[in-house]
Amino acid sequence: MALPRWALDGGYRAAMRPLLFRVGGGDAETAHHLTLRRMAQLGDHPAAVRSLAAALPRPAGPVEVAGVRFPGRVGLAAGVDKDGLGVKVWEHLGFGHIELGTVTAQAQPGNPQPRLFRLRGSDAIINRMGFNNDGARALADRLAAAGPRGIPIGVSIGKTKATPVEDAIGDYLTSLALLDEHADYFAVNVSSPNTPGLRTLQDKEPLAELLAELVTATAARSRTPIFVKIAPDLTDGAIDDVLEVAQRADASGIIATNTTLSRDGIAEVDLPLADEAGGLSGAPLTRRSRYVVQRIAERSKLPVIGVGGVMTADDGRALIDAGASLVQIYSGFIYRGPALVAELNRALAP
Ligand SMILES: Cc1cc2nc3c(=O)[nH]c(=O)nc-3n(C[C@H](O)[C@H](O)[C@H](O)COP(=O)(O)O)c2cc1C
Repeated sequence: MALPRWALDGGYRAAMRPLLFRVGGGDAETAHHLTLRRMAQLGDHPAAVRSLAAALPRPAGPVEVAGVRFPGRVGLAAGVDKDGLGVKVWEHLGFGHIELGTVTAQAQPGNPQPRLFRLRGSDAIINRMGFNNDGARALADRLAAAGPRGIPIGVSIGKTKATPVEDAIGDYLTSLALLDEHADYFAVNVSSPNTPGLRTLQDKEPLAELLAELVTATAARSRTPIFVKIAPDLTDGAIDDVLEVAQRADASGIIATNTTLSRDGIAEVDLPLADEAGGLSGAPLTRRSRYVVQRIAERSKLPVIGVGGVMTADDGRALIDAGASLVQIYSGFIYRGPALVAELNRALAP
């Protein structure tokens, strides 16, 4: 029997979260890696996974987006499980899809640590991870070994730091070719603030060129839908340019949004961390991502996956009301755990 909501929420906040926030001596990244490693181990014990599944609520009803059938509207945002370590477990926490990655064509270590900061008084996170990942081939091997999953798997692809931005297309194409047979959709990440030059790929001409190549590559093979993930810091004009280019290139949809460079909405107690370089996510992003989703929905027919500052069921509902077909969570999941997934599934049942 599924656990009641109060038990899930209370249990995570009172017991699990303090524990998770303390492992690794309180270092956010160590706690994250340890948790993912535990999930990988759990995934190899089907009986344990089945009992976890029995205790947690399921995704609440199917919805079709870009030709893909999603069992629920709530997904795990990119960056939580870059290398797919927990690929056998996420679906049992109630997620209706997961977006793995961002992976790059070459494995890379990312930026020097520390690079991940919890702003607990603001329900927020600042990160400058810089696409630390095992590379596209390692993810392809892991997905092949895991076999078919019960929920759609999105794969977020980005540019290797060492690849000059002028050669970005080849880098994205390499990842796409390696992962095409495993991905139910691709997310083209041109919006991380932590890889120098990456965001310039959101400009009209480079984006048009990049999307044309990627769409052509999948059209010849799998027709895997291609979504573009954009920054919340784009001007209205720049958002409209992305929409025009994405529609002309026959991309399948937009993911809005990535983390922000803005530091608005940080509580006073967290101001000492506000100067850390990187992207801000969580509660300070709620209103801005809603605005961007609404603008996209008003000005195009492209499906939108809404992400950014979904910390409650009401936040998720507001993104759907603004025009999103699906929502994703990262920071909300760190602060509230599986209870938020359950709450969103209940609130967003089609
Ligand atoms: C530590 C961290 C790492 C992230 N890594 C990625 C990434 O690799 N690729 C990506 O597209 N987004 C990445 N994101 C952005 C999230 O997917 C999401 O767009 C953003 O955090 C806003 O959602 P949230 O407010 O629910 O956290 C990352 C976010 C965080 C906090």
